[in-house]
Amino acid sequence: MKDKLTLPIFDIIKTLAGKADLQVYVIGGYVRDLIMKRPSKDVDIVIIGNGIKLAEAVAKELPGKPKVTVFKRFGTAMFKYKGVEYEFVGARKESYSKDSRKPAVEEGTLEDDQNRRDLTVNALAISLHPETYGKLLDPFEGLEDIRNKIIRTPLDPDITFSDDPLRMMRAVRFACQLNYEIFQRTFRALKENKDRIKIISQERISDELNKIILSDKPSRGFKILDSVGLLEYIFPEFVALKGVETRNGLSHKDNFLHTLQVLDNISEKTDNLWLRWAAILHDIAKPAVKRFTENGWTFHSHEFVGKKMIPEIFKKMRLPMNEKMAYVQKLVLLHLRPIALVKEEVTDSAVRRLLFEAGDTADDLMTLAEADITSKNERKVKLFLKNLKKVRQKMIEVEEKDKIRNWQPPITGELIMKTFNLKPSKQIGIIKDAIREAILDGKIPNDYDAAYEYMLKYVKENKLL
Ligand code: CTP
Repeated sequence: MKDKLTLPIFDIIKTLAGKADLQVYVIGGYVRDLIMKRPSKDVDIVIIGNGIKLAEAVAKELPGKPKVTVFKRFGTAMFKYKGVEYEFVGARKESYSKDSRKPAVEEGTLEDDQNRRDLTVNALAISLHPETYGKLLDPFEGLEDIRNKIIRTPLDPDITFSDDPLRMMRAVRFACQLNYEIFQRTFRALKENKDRIKIISQERISDELNKIILSDKPSRGFKILDSVGLLEYIFPEFVALKGVETRNGLSHKDNFLHTLQVLDNISEKTDNLWLRWAAILHDIAKPAVKRFTENGWTFHSHEFVGKKMIPEIFKKMRLPMNEKMAYVQKLVLLHLRPIALVKEEVTDSAVRRLLFEAGDTADDLMTLAEADITSKNERKVKLFLKNLKKVRQKMIEVEEKDKIRNWQPPITGELIMKTFNLKPSKQIGIIKDAIREAILDGKIPNDYDAAYEYMLKYVKENKLL
């Protein structure tokens, strides 16, 4: 592994370790990523002895002498150097109690330290002592698991997961991110220990869930979470989408599988976490509004109900209840519109109206609509995608012409009041809406003179004053 240790800091540590005859190792995620050739910005260093002292000695040797932050209580120290975070810690042994993730910690050997880690692929260490520099210490065959693409715990998984149940989410997340299989015994332990997740804070769970959502093929992670029973615990609204019901020979699609397909589709197009969340939530209200009518299954107004369900879901998941949530809500509310539009003739006014309502989210809305086409009939998929492409093109043309995104009608409420000598009242809203509708419908051009004239005519014709 010697030739892989390219960061200059490893040489400094080697020299210092040689002088003081210290057993020092680089360990965990950095070693895993080094072997997998993935980029990594966190380096964890383990010392048999005092981590804080070594961190300070290393920092002193570095140009610019980075500032060391010490956490005395945990016996750790860290600093940042050239965009990489280095953490130094004395090797430890941990023992956990039943209802907390916070372990009792005592000094330990390298082996103790490797034992207490979550996964074999995360328990690899490389020696930095000059005599053994570059030697890989791999007591749990993590390297073999990397070769075979296996997620497995170093110890009995019941112990590893029960000690720190967040590791169950991490196991699923790594399986999803790396496209690894979960070892059978580990998988069984996920099922058996799933209830322990309740001692984990929602922030940490959502953090892992977001990492799953941001992976190349998030459906993999969701399917594992579902099959071990964790999804029911952390996201029951999503599990409620599962299943197909048939009545009088009529079935609806499985909205769980459909949503996962939409999520995978959109993940090929965007790394925007919130657009991916919009894909997850676009049909979330379908179970709540499902009806069987003489025309078959309907999910009438699921877009409105879905939009309303989102704040509660975001609150429970500790996701940000700010403009990001508003963005997801807007996309969920409008997600049917582009496809409804292509079912008719694509007129300028329909496109103008959609641009007006979607504003800045118009492009993302189109991406969502495209991802939402999951029919098994390839001809149908092709046709819809072609039509949506036409809408995109038309959006560009209409936007160039009318600048409708983030648009404000040319006549303000102030002007209406002044023109007709009115006090603030309901009429002003009516007049303003009428002007806006006339422009969106293409009845009049989007300019001040036309709008002014239309206003006078509208007020007169409707005997509003
Ligand atoms: N670890 C663990 N149990 C946890 C979290 C972390 O055993 N619940 C161990 C693993 O050995 C891990 C190391 O601590 O490799 C560092 O953890 P962290 O920096 O959180 O994660 P990484 O594995 O580096 O991966 P990522 O940065 O993708 O989260």
